Amino acid sequence: MPTEIASIVGGRALTDAPGGRLDSTNPAQTTEIVATALLGDASTFVDACRAAREAQRAWREVPAPIRGRAIQQAGRLVEDNKEALAHLVTREIGKPYPESLGEVQEIIDTCNFFLGEGRRLYGQTVPSEMPDKQLFTFRVPVGVAAIITAGNFPVAVPSWYLVPALLCGNAVVWKPADYAPATAEALAQLFLHAGLPDGVLNLMLCDGPTTSEGLSRALEEGLVDKVGFTGSSQVGSRIGELCGRHLQSPCLELGGKNPMVVMEDADLDLAVEGALFSGFGTAGQRCTSLGTVIVADSIHDEFLARFTKAVEGAAIGDPEQDVLYGPMIDQKFMDRFGDWLGLIRDHHAVSGSTATGRITAENPRAGFVGDPAAGIFAHPTIVSGVRGEDEIANTETFGPIVGVASFGSFDEAMDLANRHGYGLSSSIYTTNPKHAFRFRERISAGMVSVNNSTSGAEAHLPFGGNGKSGNGSRQSGIWVLDQFTRWQSMNWDYAGKLQKAQMDVADVQADLGYRIG
Ligand code: UN1
Repeated sequence: MPTEIASIVGGRALTDAPGGRLDSTNPAQTTEIVATALLGDASTFVDACRAAREAQRAWREVPAPIRGRAIQQAGRLVEDNKEALAHLVTREIGKPYPESLGEVQEIIDTCNFFLGEGRRLYGQTVPSEMPDKQLFTFRVPVGVAAIITAGNFPVAVPSWYLVPALLCGNAVVWKPADYAPATAEALAQLFLHAGLPDGVLNLMLCDGPTTSEGLSRALEEGLVDKVGFTGSSQVGSRIGELCGRHLQSPCLELGGKNPMVVMEDADLDLAVEGALFSGFGTAGQRCTSLGTVIVADSIHDEFLARFTKAVEGAAIGDPEQDVLYGPMIDQKFMDRFGDWLGLIRDHHAVSGSTATGRITAENPRAGFVGDPAAGIFAHPTIVSGVRGEDEIANTETFGPIVGVASFGSFDEAMDLANRHGYGLSSSIYTTNPKHAFRFRERISAGMVSVNNSTSGAEAHLPFGGNGKSGNGSRQSGIWVLDQFTRWQSMNWDYAGKLQKAQMDVADVQADLGYRIG
């Protein structure tokens, strides 16, 4: 009998399942049910927001350093349960175990950063233009945050929202991905055991259409003040529209078509290593995964040969073993992968594996680790000969597929790097600082790596994108505080008379006709 897991609203597990039941399976072993999720419906969503609204009133009064202490305890609990949580990530979404450990570490890093923020959360004292008057700024919690997250980083990315939102004095309704309810519930339990009062963090298990109906109703009823969303650009723009109707600006972390430019002067082995990890790590299912490698003409053939060799030799298979990547997160992602393979045209060449598409006994991958029939595994695919106008150069392809294009001039490289309209992550391999800084100036992406891959952002730098990758919001580090607080300004006049700004202000008498000599 698999474990049953339920939404948690106001500190109570809801076991009635008005939205039905959903089995979460292990994508590396599809006969194994990891957990059965008892789903809520749109009314459950609204109730969760109401519970959050109720709980937030007291939570915002808790001194920020004490809220920081709760974050500290959450981080400690995550650290003490690191291996168990990482194994669950691997079981439920198929990420190789060392990557899952990294994912859990990202939560710990986020807690470690924000526990100290509880003792800062600085406002400013600002000089007034008049005597006997003081000006101040304060960070005020936004209220209730509805956080909707994806399955590829089922706990790390949610923690980027949950931790700062809670620290800043907001209450949260978290709707995790359908593919990772067990992992999400485990994280929610760790946070709830850290001393958060009931209703401050609510877990909402439901499907996509229910989320959109529930969110729309909750916004209509004035129960949600901030939406955080990680997922596709398509859904992100619908959420943006919905929030815009309520004069809200959501925190959106969307897709990417992350370029890697390899200059003639690059260390080629380093570039190949970076392309292998960011193109095929997590089976290419990161929003920061490499989209297209853009290689200088003079080294293109050599790069492609070395990259192909590295991909052909990479271990793929059972994510509990030593592999570059495991299964697709879910059948849905495998189906979509088939669509991306359909973007390959006659002028392209394909390399990197013994076949393309799903790995099966009839369509085998040389050196596969484990039994391909047990799970949902995909061949890695390098598509070379990509041109700027190709659909594959301009479409996010969420899976183990990487394009390779070549360029003559730096302008051509930048056109290929920017023309798709995404702007999340990017990378350049070069030994010339001039190229690195010129690339930084001209790339549309929010994140730039030099001699490192497009993936693997550290947890305390601003994370986020532009164009089709987001609305300019940033997560992580001090920058995310602007998502979960609003600035309030205050002036305090103790002159004992009304002092009018701009009018009752002393002037400075200057002799502006004065000249030297
Ligand atoms: C994501 O894919 O949504 O930079 C986030 C990285 C990870 C986070 C990825 N630290 O690749």
